[in-house]
Amino acid sequence: MSRWKGLIQEYKEFLPVTEETPLLTLHEGNTPLIELEHISKEWGVKIFVKYEGLNPTGSFKDRGMVMAVAKAKEEGSKAIICASTGNTSAAAAAYGARAGLKCVVVIPEGKIALGKLAQAVMYGAEVLEIKGNFDNALDIVREISETEPITLVNSVNPYRIEGQKTAAFEIVDALGKAPDVLAIPVGNAGNITAYWKGFKEYHEKKGTGLPEMRGFEAEGAAAIVRGEVIEEPETIATAIRIGNPASWDKAVAAKEESDGSIDFVTDEEILEAYQLLASREGVFAEPASCASLAGLKKQIASGEIKKGATVVCVLTGNGLKDPNTAIDTVTVKPTVLPNDKEAFLSHLKGGVTS
Ligand code: F0G
Repeated sequence: MSRWKGLIQEYKEFLPVTEETPLLTLHEGNTPLIELEHISKEWGVKIFVKYEGLNPTGSFKDRGMVMAVAKAKEEGSKAIICASTGNTSAAAAAYGARAGLKCVVVIPEGKIALGKLAQAVMYGAEVLEIKGNFDNALDIVREISETEPITLVNSVNPYRIEGQKTAAFEIVDALGKAPDVLAIPVGNAGNITAYWKGFKEYHEKKGTGLPEMRGFEAEGAAAIVRGEVIEEPETIATAIRIGNPASWDKAVAAKEESDGSIDFVTDEEILEAYQLLASREGVFAEPASCASLAGLKKQIASGEIKKGATVVCVLTGNGLKDPNTAIDTVTVKPTVLPNDKEAFLSHLKGGVTS
């Protein structure tokens, strides 16, 4: 078995790679496509999850960031900047460190999961908190990057989309063709844009088919579904707490061209899917990720997704990113036993081993 070399080398024929592009990598990509055996049986569809939480910094952002940072380096940039609900900042900080670039991340005050903040700090980024939300932060960094010598690495940077489209290639390679449906969380709408681009490029070259693209926003941040900017977006899924998605038009195009949909799911539906996925299938993904599985359930119930369909749900980030939501969702009440083997045995025989 040969060693996985990371996205830039593995997919260079599909990426804007030149002789001068540094072969930057943390060996991102090549994430597993896991079949959900129990839930598939119960729901009457064949479900796979693309577990992007196994990327080097624990989210799909690594795919886009390796490309964006490599190109920034190639172009002679000395520093990168991004606004982030957390995962982009972790990825930018890691790849910035790896490439020897300064990294500045701008995050919304008090609304970023603990693990993500820990990562940005450990990777040595300068962390700036804004008294505002992600949309406000993005406005500011976009303006600053226009006048200052610092490269913007949010998904409005086209190299981010190029890197992220590789996940679609991996899904098609694993299944032998495109699935019937791709279900994906939508925040700033970069990732749905990237997947659709990836599926189309692969189809053009290899005739592998196209899925229906089904994107899911959180109810309190469902700007695209409602057709208006949400000034004060709110959701438990802080990663997708975004009220004015930068790639709004491209998400709508993906939906229309693929005969798919952009829908929303409630926080309750997200948390239910979050817990079900971990407890029934052993897959721990962060809340925003679970908007895809929650959306699938909703659209099976509505009849929009047909029984027997092959569906891939993108799980965008690792559950360990957000330990607080896990602990708040499940009541942790350990059974207290005396320090005595007999007491343990009689407790286990009362349920677990009998
Ligand atoms: N899931 C997770 C875990 C995310 O972190 C994000 C976006 C999304 C889904 C939505 O992807 O924005 O391409 O539609 N996180 C960005 C960030 C905004 O700053 O980390 P999208």
